[in-house]
Amino acid sequence: MKKVRFGIIGAGLMGREFASAIARWAHLPEMLVRPELTAVCDKNPAVLAWYRQNFPAIRCFTADYRELLAEASVEAVYCAVPHNLHAELYTAIIQAGKHLMGEKPFGIDQRANRTILECANAHGNVFVRCSSELPFYPAAQRIGDLIEKNAFGQIIEVNNFFLHSSDLDPAKALNWKRQIEINGEYGCLGDLGMHVCHVPFRAGWIPKNVRAILSDIVKERPDGRGGRAPCRTWDNATLLCEALDPVAGALFPLTLKTHRIAPGEKNTWGIEILGAKASARFSTKNPKLLQVLEYHGGEQAWQHLDMGQETAFKTITGGIFEFGFSDSILQMWAAFLYELTEGRPLKKFAGCVTPQETALSHALFTAALRSQAERQTIVVG
Ligand SMILES: NC(=O)c1ccc[n+]([C@@H]2O[C@H](COP(=O)([O-])OP(=O)(O)OC[C@H]3O[C@@H](n4cnc5c(N)ncnc54)[C@H](O)[C@@H]3O)[C@@H](O)[C@H]2O)c1
Repeated sequence: MKKVRFGIIGAGLMGREFASAIARWAHLPEMLVRPELTAVCDKNPAVLAWYRQNFPAIRCFTADYRELLAEASVEAVYCAVPHNLHAELYTAIIQAGKHLMGEKPFGIDQRANRTILECANAHGNVFVRCSSELPFYPAAQRIGDLIEKNAFGQIIEVNNFFLHSSDLDPAKALNWKRQIEINGEYGCLGDLGMHVCHVPFRAGWIPKNVRAILSDIVKERPDGRGGRAPCRTWDNATLLCEALDPVAGALFPLTLKTHRIAPGEKNTWGIEILGAKASARFSTKNPKLLQVLEYHGGEQAWQHLDMGQETAFKTITGGIFEFGFSDSILQMWAAFLYELTEGRPLKKFAGCVTPQETALSHALFTAALRSQAERQTIVVG
């Protein structure tokens, strides 16, 4: 089986998810390629202990990403560092000739995103993608298949959401994701926005304009050192856009909600598509349930389908067994490696986010910031 040797730069929460996915690659019996983790970089040495304990094949542990990039054996890098470092590290990885899976938002702002894309365009031999795993849930994949078949007919409305609630607790300490200097001006949009853009962008539903309402609900938090610090990042964002349905040639309302303060919600990602011929709904709150309404005239009835392991990339798990977050990470990585080696995604909605799609998200989020500042609808350019 072909192997791709990987390094991880930024070995925190998401770095561990990738390492764990590598450790259970045997779950994917039909993959003709496998990742091998040979190098890990994190500036915090304490983070590396878990890797030392669990991955004896890792040959390089370092706090300096340049050292990892100098390792000739490393062919590809997963980079999961705070947003203020994306431009510097992603361009260094690409310039070193390593394939890159970068984390969202793929640059702290539009300028940083453009720098990364220029670098990627100048190194066409390097495969570059952005992480976004939630569309790999089986129900979301089924929705993708329905979009590909134009099963919805003319699109009436599409609603996408990604909802968290732990920030409801005002005693939650400020971390880098709540600091503008490190997380960026986009706030919750930079952190959560790509997740709600992935499916609509892949469908070709590109926002023409946006009216954004951004909320800064908790303005101060414990600083983790016994004091208090201002928390200036946007907690919640609601974007109402007009998008073009390329099949019907008509505009429709597209909403994108990213909330860090959505009472009761814990990493709830979902999509609702209302169409003239069919409609569908899915939320990770009830990860097995796909709701579909097919309209042929006559009764309008929602069907409730239990989805099991109907994954894009076949797994060894029994077909009736439930799917979860770490399964979606495994599927996303299968998609990355499949496209890297085959030169095309397995199918339209089983492909990772492209650099061009990250550029669209930055155009939208930049317009959303202006919309909030001016209380106006802004053309997404
Ligand atoms: N796809 C997803 O579902 C998802 C979920 C959470 C976070 N993310 C994204 O992943 C990225 C990282 O987030 P996280 O939650 O893993 O953060 P984290 O804080 O858990 O991990 C980041 C790691 O980067 C390390 N680091 C910082 N500067 C470094 C440097 N110069 N060189 C090497 N290492 C350095 C830190 O020590 C830390 O261990 C962000 O872009 C974030 O938006 C994606």
